[in-house]
Amino acid sequence: MKIRWVRIRVRLLRISAIPEDNASSKCLVLIRVSIHDLYRCFILPSHLALQLLISVLATFLMTMEPHRENTKFEGWIAHNRAAAAGQMEWGFFEPKPWEETDVDIEVTHCGICSSDLHVLRSDWPASYPVVVGHEIIGTVVRVGMDVKTGIRVGDRVGVGAQSDACLCRKPPAVADDWSSCGECATGKENYCARASTTYNSHFLSTAAGGAKTMGGYARHHRCPSHFVFKIPKDLRSEYAAPLMCAGITVYSALCSVSRSSDEPGGGSSKRRHLRGTRVGVIGIGGLGHLAILFARAMGAEYVLALSRDEGKRDDARTLGADEYIATGEEEEWGGDQTNSLHVMISTIATSAPIDRHLRLLRRGGRYIALGMPRDAVEVDVSMLVVKGLLLTGSLIGSPAEVRDMLQFAMEQKITPRVDVKSMGDANNAILDMEAGMARYRFVLCNEM
Ligand SMILES: NC(=O)c1ccc[n+]([C@@H]2O[C@H](COP(=O)([O-])OP(=O)(O)OC[C@H]3O[C@@H](n4cnc5c(N)ncnc54)[C@H](OP(=O)(O)O)[C@@H]3O)[C@@H](O)[C@H]2O)c1
Ligand SMILES: [Zn+2]
Ligand SMILES: [Zn+2]
Repeated sequence: MKIRWVRIRVRLLRISAIPEDNASSKCLVLIRVSIHDLYRCFILPSHLALQLLISVLATFLMTMEPHRENTKFEGWIAHNRAAAAGQMEWGFFEPKPWEETDVDIEVTHCGICSSDLHVLRSDWPASYPVVVGHEIIGTVVRVGMDVKTGIRVGDRVGVGAQSDACLCRKPPAVADDWSSCGECATGKENYCARASTTYNSHFLSTAAGGAKTMGGYARHHRCPSHFVFKIPKDLRSEYAAPLMCAGITVYSALCSVSRSSDEPGGGSSKRRHLRGTRVGVIGIGGLGHLAILFARAMGAEYVLALSRDEGKRDDARTLGADEYIATGEEEEWGGDQTNSLHVMISTIATSAPIDRHLRLLRRGGRYIALGMPRDAVEVDVSMLVVKGLLLTGSLIGSPAEVRDMLQFAMEQKITPRVDVKSMGDANNAILDMEAGMARYRFVLCNEM
């Protein structure tokens, strides 16, 4: 009889001892088997190989079940505001209870957004313990049976700053009525009054039982599938990460002042564009540098970068800015640009007066605040009146806009300037971010 030889290797990717709860010393062993790697270790006749394969898969499934019930993820936990001083602690945390509309992601990358620092510092009310991080990219390792978005195990996906919204579904309390949520009904989930942020918030469903949202400075992330997005294959993960919050935020704001190419003179493309629009970008950091890139890619007529000092002039020009103002170094800055801009995108989070910025807007111009200062900002209302200005803000983007933005970024080869750091180095990275050293986005990576 001719024996066909099969080479098999069972790879224990990771074996972790995880206490199920504080009272029990029982340990849970997670065994993950890569079928793709069933090579190398043993050489066996094919029928033995088959038996071994079946028993390995059975063991795998058996060990998966308790894993599902008692899952703990590992990540950087902030226990109090000292975390902002580089004192996040690595440890286990509980993700939300699993629902069949969820997706589990093995995190490969997570960008560091300034909002992470706002929460770590308690600029915004923080509910510790918290795991921050909402520019998450990773590989799908589990998909619920009721997921309808076509996401499959193995897909590369991203999660941004939003993890939940009412989506007009049945509310946990009988007295509530979510069916009338105009925002969710019209695809503006980012403005749903019940929306949950990706960390420092709570999930909405009854099954989730008010579980806390936990972010992406971690090995794994669990998220309702409505807020999980496939990453186009030509978009590298380290570039996709900053797009999940910073990118979508500036893209959505720019789209709000763009025109559709269906309008007269708009050309054949269906995309929104900024042709003929003069844009100012205030603050050249994570959001700001992407605002320059997106404005340019959307065809803006002119882009002005406003930064505090000269240090980013060359970078801003390379990114695509036509002109640059160092507002902290030029006494009478902005004289040449008075009444010249259609829109200003502000990414700074200070409460300094904005009147000098408003001077640069032409009649009917729009000032869009993206940065979120802790304190109120003083505004000379008469300037709004005299020039008919619109003072507004914008919050991340809707799921539909995220998909559109990712596609646009891939097609236009938007390349965020990133500095990739090891996930293990997260504490130092947030200190460097706080010190303004990011050029222009730190991205934590689990694979370094
Ligand atoms: N609206 C939304 O949906 C949304 C989404 C994401 C983030 N955000 C918010 O947007 C803001 C910016 O986030 P980011 O990640 O882009 O932060 P970032 O990378 O730190 O960039 C912020 C920029 O603001 C300027 N800046 C810093 N400190 C300043 C100060 N004391 N006075 C004046 N300007 C100062 C700096 O630009 P120069 O060095 O060029 O002056 C800095 O690069 C944060 O408040 C964040 O929470 C909002
Ligand atoms: Zn963010
Ligand atoms: Zn809603």
